[in-house]
Amino acid sequence: MRIDARAKVTGDALYPGDINLPGQLWMQVLFARRPHARIKRLDTAQAERAPGVVHIFTARDVPVNEFGLGSKDAPVLVADEVRWVGEKIALVVAETEAQAEHARDLIAVEYDDLPPTTDSRDAMQPGAPQVHPAYPGNVIKHIPIRKGDVAQGFAQSDVIIESEYRTPAQEHAYLQPEAGVAYMDDENRVTVVVAGQWTQEDQEQIAHALGLRLDQVRVIYPAIGGAFGGREDMSVQIILALAAIKLNRPVKIIWSREESMIGHHKRHPMWLKSKWGATRDGKIIAAQVEIVADAGPYMYTSPKVLGNAAFGAVGPYAVPNVQVDAYTIATNNIVSGAFRGFGGPQAHFQAETQMNKLAEKLGMDPVEIRLKNVLREGSLLATQTPLPGGPVSLPQVVQKCADEFGWQVRGLGDKETRRQGERPSPLATGYGFAAALKNIGFSFGYQENAWAKVEIHGNAEIEKVIVYHGAAEVGQGTHTALAQMAATTLGVSLEKIELRASDTATSKSSGSVSASRMTYIGGNAIKGAAERALKKWTDEERPAMAEYTYLAPKTTNFDPATGKAKPNIAYGYVAQAVEVQVDTETGHVRVVRVTCADDVGRAINPRLIEGQIEGAVIQAQGWTIQENFQSKNGNVLTSTLSTYLIPGILDVPDRVDSVIMEFPDDDGPWGARGMAEMPFIPLAAAIIAAVHDATGVWFDELPLTPWRVLEKLKRK
Ligand code: MOS
Repeated sequence: MRIDARAKVTGDALYPGDINLPGQLWMQVLFARRPHARIKRLDTAQAERAPGVVHIFTARDVPVNEFGLGSKDAPVLVADEVRWVGEKIALVVAETEAQAEHARDLIAVEYDDLPPTTDSRDAMQPGAPQVHPAYPGNVIKHIPIRKGDVAQGFAQSDVIIESEYRTPAQEHAYLQPEAGVAYMDDENRVTVVVAGQWTQEDQEQIAHALGLRLDQVRVIYPAIGGAFGGREDMSVQIILALAAIKLNRPVKIIWSREESMIGHHKRHPMWLKSKWGATRDGKIIAAQVEIVADAGPYMYTSPKVLGNAAFGAVGPYAVPNVQVDAYTIATNNIVSGAFRGFGGPQAHFQAETQMNKLAEKLGMDPVEIRLKNVLREGSLLATQTPLPGGPVSLPQVVQKCADEFGWQVRGLGDKETRRQGERPSPLATGYGFAAALKNIGFSFGYQENAWAKVEIHGNAEIEKVIVYHGAAEVGQGTHTALAQMAATTLGVSLEKIELRASDTATSKSSGSVSASRMTYIGGNAIKGAAERALKKWTDEERPAMAEYTYLAPKTTNFDPATGKAKPNIAYGYVAQAVEVQVDTETGHVRVVRVTCADDVGRAINPRLIEGQIEGAVIQAQGWTIQENFQSKNGNVLTSTLSTYLIPGILDVPDRVDSVIMEFPDDDGPWGARGMAEMPFIPLAAAIIAAVHDATGVWFDELPLTPWRVLEKLKRK
């Protein structure tokens, strides 16, 4: 059972918004709420005189006014040019939340509105207005991959499929919007209690913007109501610290849902142009893919997301001839960044739909064509290197998923029977299949690492174990998995493990809770520290203490001309089969059943893994079918959960069958591979294939809103 289950169920667990400190002040943010403008005049005089106001902060109050994960190219508070709707103009700090809100609305700002750049492909054209001075031509990053010769591959192909795909932005919609409290602790460190994904990264960015040393800043994560990548870049961290240090009083903020939805980044919308060629017997021999991602005006994690999208452009297949050109482009749309799958879902939607279209054209079964092409032991990736880390289990994963779903049992004959019902029904049933691979860790040349410390207390026998580490428990269960790994290494029960986590004052960096990396990389750190402490315990040291920093095997970044790389340390493999029902009169698509087979290497906690599979499937279903993020001229039209519809309990599939497979990774702790993103990745393509199976229509653009479905069905 999860070690935090009881506190979360009883309400004892404190989330950032639950924490109140004596004498605390409240902050409200004045957002720009316009996509592109110049500030002509900013007048806070009237707001400063409003009841309860303690201070109003503007750009000139920020010592080093810049932040960002990939590059510090974004201002904490805008001084002159607004580049997206969620820019922060000013901060009001007052005695109460209502007073801060009242005063915020008294701040007078005069803007010169400028035309926004909102189409990423137009923004790449010569002469397009430059969105950010750091990105000439608006290209934040271009990643080319060249393997073999695609022209020759297409010349030898018997069938070619060409398509253009579009994927939308997606909102993380975590349970608790951005919130936190900052104060000066008893060692005079500005201390920020907030929800994030990497305490040391938050600490570094706060220190940088405030012109402080790292040891003058402390970051603590209490319980976190979900993250999904949406808490990787800064939201309230720097602004809370700025106010607490200046005013020397605790300062609290809670964003409304609406502020959260315009105030943090979204999944990258992408346009993907794709041409794949295969031989008559179903061998893919060439794939040419162009990807344009809309980054919004600042870098955030865009180059890393683009790297995963470029890498995923050929799906989980061994393709001899590959040409990929992936671009991430600056616009004045809402800023884009990390979101579960991290570029993988967009790329695989394209790759897996190409695969299903090829199967259709060749009259082959979607499972059969995959088994002919999936990466295997010794296969070369598009980056011209083999996959590390133990069995490349894609053939087994694909086969197992098909078996468990009952894919072979239904044949074409069965489907014909289904269509010859006695009375014509508007409900059409269809089946779809897709697969994916997901990298573990940031890698691409980054030295993956994690730190842990273990203290064993007792005399004759171990009475208590204190484990220090930095991993953020964002709700996925990482603290439980890490505690289990410590207990197993030491041969003690889970109850004896006490975690001291997520506080920069007591832990060094375990890296980000991102990229499906913490079970693998953080787990190796815990295992290493526990083994070393246990050796000291055996040598009669009391208490026995050891620290350990795990350094993962080295990787390399894309070669700038060819994309050649040894990009990742390890992978997880996944396949999904789905059954959908399409109402051909209303256009509603219902996901009836999903079978998801995942090679997780070793299931450290099977129940948590099932939770991740079910959650990822539902989140991906939202992205595929109903979440319809809408902007107009850079303004967000769907900034509430009543206009941006995420799946509710009546939308989820009747069944999600999680099939956990365990082909151990060479370097993962007990063979574990990371897994929490991969069940998201193939679902869109599997649903699209099932809808095609039901209706005969291919949808190349998400989401499958009823009107989009109906319109295409009518045209057919
Ligand atoms: Mo992530 S999308 O690697 O938190």
